[in-house]
Amino acid sequence: MIVNRNILTLDEFTLTQLRQFPSATGELSRLLRDLALAAKRVNVEVNKAGLVDILGDYGTINVQGEDVKKLDIFANNQFMGVLKHGISCAGIGSEEMDDFVVFNDEVSNNSKYVVLFDPLDGSGNIDVNVSIGTIFSVYRRVSELGKPCRKEDFLQPGNKQVAAGYVVYGSSTMLVYATRRGVNGFTLDPSIGEFSLSHPDIRCPETGKFYSVNHGNFFQYDEPVRKYIDGCQRKTKETGGPYTQRYIGSMVADVHRNLIKGGIFMYPGTIEKPKGKLRLLYEANPFAFIVEVAGGMATDGKQRILDIQPTELHQRTPLFIGSKKMMEELETFTGVEK
Ligand code: AHG
Ligand code: MN
Ligand code: MN
Ligand code: MN
Repeated sequence: MIVNRNILTLDEFTLTQLRQFPSATGELSRLLRDLALAAKRVNVEVNKAGLVDILGDYGTINVQGEDVKKLDIFANNQFMGVLKHGISCAGIGSEEMDDFVVFNDEVSNNSKYVVLFDPLDGSGNIDVNVSIGTIFSVYRRVSELGKPCRKEDFLQPGNKQVAAGYVVYGSSTMLVYATRRGVNGFTLDPSIGEFSLSHPDIRCPETGKFYSVNHGNFFQYDEPVRKYIDGCQRKTKETGGPYTQRYIGSMVADVHRNLIKGGIFMYPGTIEKPKGKLRLLYEANPFAFIVEVAGGMATDGKQRILDIQPTELHQRTPLFIGSKKMMEELETFTGVEK
């Protein structure tokens, strides 16, 4: 008996979506295919890191003031390369590049989208074989065709995203992709070299028992945040706990777990860094879009992440993100601008 194991590949999935919208041009599907190709190429290097010269420092300091890892640069070049070569993207913003990059060729200047990405998230974990990832955010360009503009096209608020997603290079390699119509997860099937639909219609559980925060900064957090974290530690069976503290240090891995199982991830501002560490355009915004589509919430402690009007490519923001009921409990401590 032939077992029909026809699990939709990413391409087949996007084609089924296209069939429902005959007027769609397919440019967004093509963009996703470009991103998936880059993810497969990064995955090959991640999987054999330690055997090839891809570990360790690249030897430069990036615009963030961080030691750049070889894999940061490799990943950045893979994603920039497929987007520049493709026909769907007019320009990019990357954690590893000082400024926006406009491709400025005849085809790209007529492309509909711009992409912001963190090519390699969790760089500190590369050399110790802990899950790392890639994060991306897609906007339709606003300016008339021709070279895209910095403010109009690249500095749009997160609520204008048309799609966002991430790749987790973990025990398996997963690509999770959201549009306003839903969040779907695809696992890389090495036997056919394709991302295949493994987690259809991902929903963020209304509540959960995981809380993720760097306890090392505890005494640098504002008092309401410290009170919330203290409350997490005091949860009992009777009060919806006990909670588990899980913090991997790779945002992609931490937020992915909490998205699937329910939980809250926090990177609050500190006395030293009131804006926290995470970047709005290519870390907070894409995950805020994904988690909100899946039914969760994301704020900077005061306002919805997606409503923040960006002013700079690398600007940082405090981030609180996850299950709706856990976020609402946090808001009873921090208050929120409605
Ligand atoms: P990146 O590797 O892209 O610079 O991002 C690292 C971020 C994020 O992945 C993680 O949640 C956070 O750094 C961890 O920061 P701390 O080590 O300060 O907790
Ligand atoms: Mn990152
Ligand atoms: Mn990074
Ligand atoms: Mn970095």
